[in-house]
Amino acid sequence: MSKEKYYITTPIYYPSGNPHIGHCYTTVACDVIARFKRLEGYDVMFLTGTDEHGMKIEQKAKDAGVTPKEYVDPIVANFKRLWETMDVSYDRYIRTTYEYHVKSVQKIFKTLYDKGYIYKGEYTGKYCTPCESFWTESQLDENGCCPDCHRPVIDAHEEAYFLKVSEFADKIEKFLTETDYLEPKSRVNEMINNFIKPGLEDLCVSRTSFTWGIPVDFDPKHVVYVWVDALSNYISALGYENDEYNDFDKYWPADLHMTAKEIVRFHSIIWIAILMMLDLPLPKHLYGHGWINFNGQKMSKSVGNVIDPFVLAQRYGSDAVRFQILRDMPYGSDSNFSNEIMINRINSDLANGFGNLVSRTVAMADKYFGGTLPEEREPAELDNELIEMAKALCGTVTPLIEQAQLAKALEEIFKVVARANKYIDETEPWILGKDETKKARLASVLYNLLETIRICSGLLAAFMPKTMPKVWEQIGADASLAVYDSLSEFGKLPANVTVHKGEALFPRIDVEKEIDELNALLAPEKTFKEDEDLDKANVITIDQFAEVKLRSGEITACEKIKKSKKLLKLTVDDGRNGRQIVSGIASWYKPEDLIGKKIVFVANLAPAKLCGEMSEGMILACDAGEDDVRVLFLDKDVPNGSTIR
Ligand code: MSP
Repeated sequence: MSKEKYYITTPIYYPSGNPHIGHCYTTVACDVIARFKRLEGYDVMFLTGTDEHGMKIEQKAKDAGVTPKEYVDPIVANFKRLWETMDVSYDRYIRTTYEYHVKSVQKIFKTLYDKGYIYKGEYTGKYCTPCESFWTESQLDENGCCPDCHRPVIDAHEEAYFLKVSEFADKIEKFLTETDYLEPKSRVNEMINNFIKPGLEDLCVSRTSFTWGIPVDFDPKHVVYVWVDALSNYISALGYENDEYNDFDKYWPADLHMTAKEIVRFHSIIWIAILMMLDLPLPKHLYGHGWINFNGQKMSKSVGNVIDPFVLAQRYGSDAVRFQILRDMPYGSDSNFSNEIMINRINSDLANGFGNLVSRTVAMADKYFGGTLPEEREPAELDNELIEMAKALCGTVTPLIEQAQLAKALEEIFKVVARANKYIDETEPWILGKDETKKARLASVLYNLLETIRICSGLLAAFMPKTMPKVWEQIGADASLAVYDSLSEFGKLPANVTVHKGEALFPRIDVEKEIDELNALLAPEKTFKEDEDLDKANVITIDQFAEVKLRSGEITACEKIKKSKKLLKLTVDDGRNGRQIVSGIASWYKPEDLIGKKIVFVANLAPAKLCGEMSEGMILACDAGEDDVRVLFLDKDVPNGSTIR
């Protein structure tokens, strides 16, 4: 009989900056589910990838002086390196820049146009560049900013194509309310009350103001809106409307799309509308999880509070990091990350809880029986509770994993781990070990512990795939004893099982020492690593550098520009006729702090008008922290107008 299929997807990530620990949650969570489904015997297709088009990437590439493709390539490589480090067992990786995906999206767009679901109109509205999202006036937050990221939006007017989402409002509402598609259920109300009830508007699905996107093939000055491009990955990656793959019929519809909460809107309204328009089967489940926050805010590069997962994986092992992020994310809500929370979790659950259970059990089997248990047994009433709990565990955990309730699944497994540790205290094997007449009883106790460990480790293997095979080695179980069916049975290890003492699975971490070291390590790492990649991608020659004319000057007058909160107008003695420079440093300097100071300026920058004031050049300053900027000042005795090289 052929295996049942299971198709699971992560969102595809923007390679606009290097990945951080917040990005790991969805992918690691999907990996656990994919691994567990494989264990259950499903034919799994696990898809992840990168979402590489859009105005934001185009802008970042321009700032970095490279092409968009050159900009994203090293970041995509870092995402892939991260998934390798974190043992993410994806089956397919899609980049939206792949030719086959481009072809699929063009065909999808054309089909929707031919069917009358896409029409040409004029877009006027608001656009949030960082989120790549269009908003209507009424959807903006109380400050007129993007309701998701709360950053300013820009006005957008242009000829554009529109998707007739409004026609599908009733059908989408019915789908969301009458099926189990969207979980947790609270998100269904959020979608209906915030987006459908106020009136679903047609969506602008093309842009003409930038070029880094998939061209509409029948009207190439338009590029396809990034979300239509991105969402289509879930079917293009299976070969829908392309020749690269041909397993669309096998795997579609998706069994589970997993995303964080802020992009649930796209997956529960726009994606569903597109699929309905294409007459395709609808995906079965969408789980919208919360965010990993740091200091109460979503971890994000632009907020400057990102934690580098490579550093954590290197110090504690990828399994411990996977475990912590999953264990501390409550179903449907946010989790808070700090180095302390992570280390305490590793110490309490992994070092003291599970690691200790394994090492004590194996050490006692070694000490009292030279590693091999005798076959003689003496069961007792006291054993039953532990045995029953261990036997029932797989039945409890399986549906929890199926529903993406991963923290709850781990909690259940760790209840059994705690029960087993308590069982050691209750049975006192070290006392039994001293009494020759209690050997059979001692063998029963140790066997029950080894079996409990076998079951727990079999279930934990999807969460911590590197460590669990080491556990099997230590408890004398071969991998066949970790197959799914054997995890609901107690008594699978041979009666005369032989254990092998090994190294500590999760060494205890010295909290204070570690936190000091981590704090010192993580902060600079986060900024420098990315810069390093960009630097490598953007090498210039000495001649190119010489094209930039840097000179010394003295600020002789300075005032605020009324129309702007950020700009200061500087009068600079440049050793020649003098010049005016406008600089965006008003948040960090008052005019009186600057008058009389010697600075470095770019002397051959094309003049520009900023807030109505002419600016002839740019003064040099450096980023000095999350939200801090310092001007580069020169010694008092440097003559004005000197060349800097
Ligand atoms: N490119 C879109 C997704 C398109 S899917 C068709 C996107 N990319 S993203 O890189 O910004 O985010 C990818 C996923 O990571 C999203 O689900 C996002 O919410 C998630 N996370 C990013 N930071 C996160 C946390 N701090 N915590 C948890 N998840 C977070 O959105």
